Amino acid sequence: PPKLTTVKALSESPGLSSIPSIYTIPKQPNHELVSDTKEPIPTIDFSLLISSNPDERSKTIRELGKACRDWGFFMVTNHGVPERMMKAMIEVCREFFELTEEEKGECEGKHVLDPIRYGTSFNPSVEKILYWRDYLKIFQHPSFHSPSNPPSLREIALEYSKRARGVMKEIVRGISESLGLEDKYIEKATNLENCLQIMIANLYPSCPQPELAMGLPAHSDHGLLTLLIQNDTVGLQVLHKDQWVNIHPIPNSFLANIGDHIEIMSNGKYKSVLHRAVVNDRDVRISIALFHGPAADAAVSPAPMLLEDGQNPLAYRAMKYKEYLELQQSSKLDGKSCLEHIRNRGI
Ligand code: SIN
Ligand code: FE2
Repeated sequence: PPKLTTVKALSESPGLSSIPSIYTIPKQPNHELVSDTKEPIPTIDFSLLISSNPDERSKTIRELGKACRDWGFFMVTNHGVPERMMKAMIEVCREFFELTEEEKGECEGKHVLDPIRYGTSFNPSVEKILYWRDYLKIFQHPSFHSPSNPPSLREIALEYSKRARGVMKEIVRGISESLGLEDKYIEKATNLENCLQIMIANLYPSCPQPELAMGLPAHSDHGLLTLLIQNDTVGLQVLHKDQWVNIHPIPNSFLANIGDHIEIMSNGKYKSVLHRAVVNDRDVRISIALFHGPAADAAVSPAPMLLEDGQNPLAYRAMKYKEYLELQQSSKLDGKSCLEHIRNRGI
């Protein structure tokens, strides 16, 4: 089979001063304004979310609801996951990308539901332009997988992904309550015990023409909640009030965002927000996203209690999470997002 051409290998070609035209992104007509807004993205203090003091907890749940409504993104502090564990995760992923292409080649998956997949760009099977990014995708739960190299990856990822699931579960409970649902509503409806937890480590090598390339195109995340960590290089931009906002994460925090399945379950009350990754000509950026979705076989639909007042017609049709993932990767979408595809017409 033809060998994968990675961005890392390309960026290390001697004397590279311009990028191949396939990496040149056509200019987008709108949303091109980048703002370094001083309006900070919301921060949720996790220790208050799980506080036994009911006032502290309900105040934090209100803040969480507001963050989901206004931004779809928020920082999570005091989450209890040790900083050394987060740093070790980033370092071991860096080591993975530094393996030879031959060593990494064992991870070249083919299908979206392959448990381990090393690849490049965003969705090369359907895209005509390529993005300045290599990635390693590993399924962590309900069954845990790990490449055999670097050898320490297995142990570090096993512990980290487990700790992160604990944080995710509490945030999902808080989101459920913030919608006026029972705290365990989302958890039960999605069979969160068997949640599909996918790790994607992203490598964005430095790029000689960063203004022409893009690390990741604008997209919303599937699933319920994404928890992201990164090395100290910025690159993530979030669409907020029609402007791309550069995100500067607080050290030792998670950057959380709600995914399409929270939008679906909330019947559109909370939106899964567009974001993208830009690149730069100085530093390598590494980010590690943990996607938490429903159980693969769970059929997800808007919570009936949110439709009862008659003001809110059913905005999305039910679909199994697994089918949603397959649809997202397929060429059937014809330029539409997966969410648009299942949105009921006329709403
Ligand atoms: C992602 O959207 O999945 C990752 C974005 C980032 O690298 O910050
Ligand atoms: Fe994303």
